[in-house]
Amino acid sequence: MKFLSEVKRTHNCGQLRATDEGQEIVLMGWVDTRRDHGGLVFVDLRDRYGLTQVVLDPSLEATKAAKNFRSEFVVAIQGKVRKRPEGMANKNLDTGEIEVEALRAEILSEADTPPIQVNDKNVTEAMRLKYRYIDLRSKHLQQNLKTRHNLVTSIRNALNQKDFLEIETPILYKSTPEGARDYLVPSRVHPGSFYALPQSPQTLKQLLMVSGYDKYYQIARCFRDEDLRADRQPEFTQLDLEMSFVDVDDVLALNENVLRSVWKEMKNYEVPEIPRMSFNEAMNRYGNDKPDIRFGMELQDISEAVAGSGFKVFDDVAARKDGAIKAICLEGKASDLSRAKIDKLTKMSQKTGAKGLVWIKWEADKVSSPVSKFFDDEKLKGIAAAAGGKEGDVVFVIADSWATTCNTLSVLRLHLANEYDLIDRSVDRFLWVTDFPLLDFSPEDGRWYAMHHPFTMVKDEYVDALLNQDESKFSEMTAKAYDLVCNGYEIGGGSIRIHNPKIQEAMFKALGVSDEEAQQRFGFFIEALRYGTPPHGGIAWGIDRVTMIMTGTESIRDVIAFPKTAKAYDTMADCPSPVDRDQLFELSIRVQKATEE
Ligand code: AMO
Ligand code: AMP
Repeated sequence: MKFLSEVKRTHNCGQLRATDEGQEIVLMGWVDTRRDHGGLVFVDLRDRYGLTQVVLDPSLEATKAAKNFRSEFVVAIQGKVRKRPEGMANKNLDTGEIEVEALRAEILSEADTPPIQVNDKNVTEAMRLKYRYIDLRSKHLQQNLKTRHNLVTSIRNALNQKDFLEIETPILYKSTPEGARDYLVPSRVHPGSFYALPQSPQTLKQLLMVSGYDKYYQIARCFRDEDLRADRQPEFTQLDLEMSFVDVDDVLALNENVLRSVWKEMKNYEVPEIPRMSFNEAMNRYGNDKPDIRFGMELQDISEAVAGSGFKVFDDVAARKDGAIKAICLEGKASDLSRAKIDKLTKMSQKTGAKGLVWIKWEADKVSSPVSKFFDDEKLKGIAAAAGGKEGDVVFVIADSWATTCNTLSVLRLHLANEYDLIDRSVDRFLWVTDFPLLDFSPEDGRWYAMHHPFTMVKDEYVDALLNQDESKFSEMTAKAYDLVCNGYEIGGGSIRIHNPKIQEAMFKALGVSDEEAQQRFGFFIEALRYGTPPHGGIAWGIDRVTMIMTGTESIRDVIAFPKTAKAYDTMADCPSPVDRDQLFELSIRVQKATEE
């Protein structure tokens, strides 16, 4: 009787229980550990379901293969399930009450000594990425990928029930502007021409609305050549979704519904009604547009409390049109905050562009601050109180442009919450951020950019200003755009779209896209809008980020099977890599390295 052809695997390594006692079974898996004990060999056999202890007697002909078992060998065991002796059960293992007495054993595949140990937490990330296929055997990565699978299944189920159609769109396509650089693919048959990998399926899903597929979704791979961060990869996955005949409320309601069913199924967690907050309110209260609302420490405007002190920094900022003087309060930590800690916080503030950091320590017997020359104790207490502070608290103040003040305090707020463990990690707190500005002016480039993307509809009251290209209104125009935020992550973003070709043309004009360029890049799209386009809108969720939240990891690389490094590199396959001259020739490409000017 041969393993595989005649003797099949009957159970996985996480399955057997005390109730299976006496059963004859067949397991196949990897040797996790091997221990010799008084002539017997004890093996923990591993697969993605768990570990099972197998006991083998290598002096018997049928199980003599055990002599040669080594770490990560792939082996087959035929054996009998028995209860472990009294007191020998392992409570940390699902299969811990039983073991398998091997009747027959065979090596299916030998393994060289692995360069990294599975489940070893001390291995560097560089090694783990280089040997990703071994690291993927570890429990936490296997659990993460399973969670990801369950998430996508749950999303599909929820949307299928609501009559959505899953439709695939091309990967070889034309540039879709989402604010990043494109990855280009040269064409052999059209020398000198390139496809762009989609930054998102944005224009394609809108065309599907034109075609009448009123409820569409796709688990879509997107490609963006941009600076990477802990929650960004050059290729990532979206739940991309679009609906016809809807306004903002309808899209948000549908998404809340799907979220609720997904969180219930995945975490048995009841998502409460999701609050909405305008972009401006989020910036003013939390300093950024994806606030973590699992804790307070909101930003307070204290300009009135510090007015007219003679402290030049504050007075100058107060006089600026774009200035803001804001503070946050760290409760009950006045006596904990050493000089060294304050210096670290000051450096952190300078990194985000602030010129310094004023703090007020309100202790029982004294109030201290680097600006006590300008404010007496009562005044300092008054400032602290304006920031929500009281005795025992520390208050941090930043005075700068509104943007720098908000951004700096938001970074400090998050840092302090982590440092002092102020975040309730047992809950997931969602938030809709709405009413984003339509456009954002870049002083360096001297032009306006779309805050979301150029297909986003302006609020009704600004349609005329956009059609008339009234630039005096551009900075105040808000959009029918929304982001979905969870625990401080932007997990989704979308908008109601422009379905009127005239407004779409006006939008491109506002973005400084010439008529010729608009025609060349988006002509097909604007033309399509002319042939009967229903009002429509949608959203895309970042599947990788949602999985990060579901699994509690802070690195996006933990939820992707084969991720890239922060330099967009795959160290396992060594890619990107140079290609043959012949291949380049066929593509009519000659490489010339860009030289520094
Ligand atoms: P947006 O650019 O906001 O919108 O992307 C939607 C969501 O995708 C996730 N995401 C990323 N995840 C990992 N790595 C990245 N580099 C990355 N970039 C974005 C985020 C984000 O919220 N077409 C529009 C959607 C629409 O308007 O319907 C779009 O792509 O979680
Ligand atoms: P100085 O008068 O420059 O010694 O600054 C006095 C205090 O104000 C120091 O603690 C600085 O870190 C702080 N400070 C300076 N500029 C700013 C600013 N723009 N916002 C907040 N604090 C500042």
